[in-house]
Amino acid sequence: MLILTSPLKLQLLEGVLRRSLPQALPVYGTVMHINRGNPAQYEAVVDSWPEFKAVLTRPCKEVVKDKWDFYANLHAMFYRDVDACQAMLENADAINWSKAFQLHGIQDGMYEVVRDIAEARHVHLKPYFYQTLVHPGPPASCQSRPRGDFHFGILNPSHAAILNEAWDFGGNNRSLRYLESLIYYFPNTCLMNKDGQLVSWSLSDPLACMTHGYTFPQYRGQGCVQATIQSISKKLYASGFPLYCGVLPENQPSKQALKHQGFHILPEIYYTIIVTPNLDLKE
Ligand SMILES: CC(C)(COP(=O)(O)OP(=O)(O)OC[C@H]1O[C@@H](n2cnc3c(N)ncnc32)[C@H](O)[C@@H]1OP(=O)(O)O)[C@@H](O)C(=O)NCCC(=O)NCCS
Repeated sequence: MLILTSPLKLQLLEGVLRRSLPQALPVYGTVMHINRGNPAQYEAVVDSWPEFKAVLTRPCKEVVKDKWDFYANLHAMFYRDVDACQAMLENADAINWSKAFQLHGIQDGMYEVVRDIAEARHVHLKPYFYQTLVHPGPPASCQSRPRGDFHFGILNPSHAAILNEAWDFGGNNRSLRYLESLIYYFPNTCLMNKDGQLVSWSLSDPLACMTHGYTFPQYRGQGCVQATIQSISKKLYASGFPLYCGVLPENQPSKQALKHQGFHILPEIYYTIIVTPNLDLKE
């Protein structure tokens, strides 16, 4: 197992991953960010080089100090076969199972491997099975207009508290810090009303995945999130990033908004697996 640090090798890795889309999307997006300034300090780990069977992306070691912070400890994985996936996940130099983390991937087999390891190690597991949506690009050039008196803006970290309140998975200090970092480091867009109050927003994450689409209830059904999806798609596409996201199957408004913007649903499941150490097994 080795951490790729050479810019040349990381460029080569990006090219190999590009030929393995869509399955490699979360890892590809992370490696793209690493190769474009690495704003949030991520690293890519391969099982061997130059031929590799599994690649894992994760924050650099010193970045996430809080062992319970799965928000910030974001891992993604791509592999050629499930044995390679298993070997990577069982390698103590690749994954620290005594710290909370989340693992993203778009390949079958990964969830079962994580589940079995988690069971054997008595750690807690919470999986989410999203539908994968992608846009072939480029996004439509004519601006999608929301039905109301709104204008576009960009979020700044002081908005994170509002987003944190609205987020179903948020509402705590770790989620607040995570949202601040997304806003600070990665492309986002928002709509505001005529008084400058937030109406709707779309963010992207260290995996270059579009995420955190939200519209306050009183403004829903007016095309707001569609306008922010289109706006952030344009930003990501202009920098060469793939356009993709995961949506819960039952989230019809979100899927409808994305489909209106040219996204289509892939058969692949977007797995997000949250692993937390067992509270009963304190070190
Ligand atoms: C999902 C969400 C962001 C949509 O925001 P919005 O600004 O209301 O979305 P838009 O108006 O741009 O588009 C939604 C579309 O879905 C349609 N829609 C609404 N409810 C629907 C339903 N139950 N079934 C199918 N379509 C539905 C709307 O009519 C609209 O389509 P239209 O333009 O053809 O009328 C908003 O409901 C929200 O914030 N939900 C909570 C957070 C969330 O789920 N975020 C997404 C995470 S992936």
